[in-house]
Amino acid sequence: MNTDRRIRFGVIGCGLMGRHFAIAAKQWGMLRDFMDGPQIVAACDIVPDNLAWFKSNVETLVETTRDYRALLAREDIDAVYCAVPHNLHAEIYIDTIKAGKHLLAEKPFGIDLPANRRIMATVAEHPQLLVRISSEFPFFPGAQRIAAAVREGRFGTIIEVRSGFLHSSDLDPRRPINWKRKALTNGEYGCMGDLGLHAVHMPFRFGWRPVNVRALLSNIVRERPDEKGVMVPCDTWDNAVLATEVETAGNRFPMLIETKRIAPGETNTWYLTVFGTLYSASFSTKYPRTLWTLAYQSDAEQAWQRTDLGYHSAYPTVADGIFEFGFTDAILQMWAAFIDELIHGASMLQPFRCATPEEAEVSHRLFSAALESQRSGQVVELASMETPV
Ligand SMILES: NC(=O)c1ccc[n+]([C@@H]2O[C@H](COP(=O)([O-])OP(=O)(O)OC[C@H]3O[C@@H](n4cnc5c(N)ncnc54)[C@H](O)[C@@H]3O)[C@@H](O)[C@H]2O)c1
Repeated sequence: MNTDRRIRFGVIGCGLMGRHFAIAAKQWGMLRDFMDGPQIVAACDIVPDNLAWFKSNVETLVETTRDYRALLAREDIDAVYCAVPHNLHAEIYIDTIKAGKHLLAEKPFGIDLPANRRIMATVAEHPQLLVRISSEFPFFPGAQRIAAAVREGRFGTIIEVRSGFLHSSDLDPRRPINWKRKALTNGEYGCMGDLGLHAVHMPFRFGWRPVNVRALLSNIVRERPDEKGVMVPCDTWDNAVLATEVETAGNRFPMLIETKRIAPGETNTWYLTVFGTLYSASFSTKYPRTLWTLAYQSDAEQAWQRTDLGYHSAYPTVADGIFEFGFTDAILQMWAAFIDELIHGASMLQPFRCATPEEAEVSHRLFSAALESQRSGQVVELASMETPV
């Protein structure tokens, strides 16, 4: 990779997340002591208004197109960020990789297990390309502190892990249907496909992989109005509660994962709590500055300690030490991690890389096993999802 110039990106899908990426590129100056920022060269969407937004807001743009293949044909694009509905992941991700572009993809990385397997086969055929999946919450300073504590081996024997991602916008039954609320475009996983990789990325990175799952899935709002106000089926799972068992280094412990679109009072709450015999830690984006920790000592009183965190994330910024960290900051840090890995490979400037295809593949086996558990009412072993499709 040529490090003398900025990495040139194409963006496919200029909706909610495509725009967040464009905004993150503008914030690159936040990063201190870091390589040059990305340059968004071309944008693709099938909706003209979304392309108009890119034209107005992205100064480096030289082309907008409705045809993603035209974007992929450009030789001046090194990498692609792709944020499209789940039913398009396999086709567009595979074509992007085959076009020789590095890819920062969106989760769930294929609408279902067979789609994921097709993408994974293409990834395996192109080892020279960097393929990563968007998962920004681990870049919150509190989450980074938990990652550091895991690296330092501070927890002792893990007792239990709780991880989740909660929304409540779907509590409103008048909310119109969109592609995210239809199994055809969002996938049978429903809320697990939408929110699940966020909840499992860090545990999987730590090597905490479930061996089995008992899932409780709920479809609470079964109909929603379409754009004409006519009630139509809303056939995706709203909420998922997964009770899993993790086995690592001879230790078996419970890991409880919840992903919910209907969690009253929660707007974008990502959390991770780890209980260990020596140390416990808990962080939630609900309180973005607050990290709770408990260092256990025999015969000493047990007390949770609250640390008011600064802005310290993976990459130093001009805001270090003061100010609060938020969603757009996490996107910026995640994108920096992708570019850092693109330029420096295994010698990244800091140790936390973006979610990998292998981690996404494990999440697919977990969510597929969860669907099977919901159908059968039984505990399902993840090994039963190993059979190649
Ligand atoms: N990382 C996160 O925090 C996060 C948050 C929300 C969504 N997502 C993921 O991002 C992806 C997109 O979600 P979104 O919320 O941005 O959805 P969105 O509906 O806001 O945007 C999707 C865009 O894709 C466009 N599109 C559809 N077909 C296309 C095609 N053939 N070619 C080019 N563009 C096409 C649509 O017009 C739309 O603008 C999904 O995979 C979703 O799971 C990630």
